[in-house]
Amino acid sequence: MPKVVYIDHQDNEYVVEVENGESLMQAALDNDVPSILGDCGGACACATCHVYVDPSWMEKAGEPSETETEMLDGLIDPQPTSRLCCQIFMSDELDGITVRLPESQF
Ligand code: FES
Repeated sequence: MPKVVYIDHQDNEYVVEVENGESLMQAALDNDVPSILGDCGGACACATCHVYVDPSWMEKAGEPSETETEMLDGLIDPQPTSRLCCQIFMSDELDGITVRLPESQF
């Protein structure tokens, strides 16, 4: 099964196996990865699943939708690598994708 590497703001790593098609937000919740809240259940409406995608994975992670881009604009600390991880869905191509977690979602 493909894996995601989540790294929190204290550099702790969480390596999680994720089924193809599952979102990185849901996988984080299911595996007790801290800092991901996912309050809206993955509807791209809360921005509490903010992550910083490792730059080397940005292209494979794909472009955010218009709705996601609008949500990203409202973040307290957006970066060029910011994504909402409920909008990134696992695939074989993303095996090993690394995302960093913000200190806080608010
Ligand atoms: Fe709400 Fe991602 S879970 S925007």
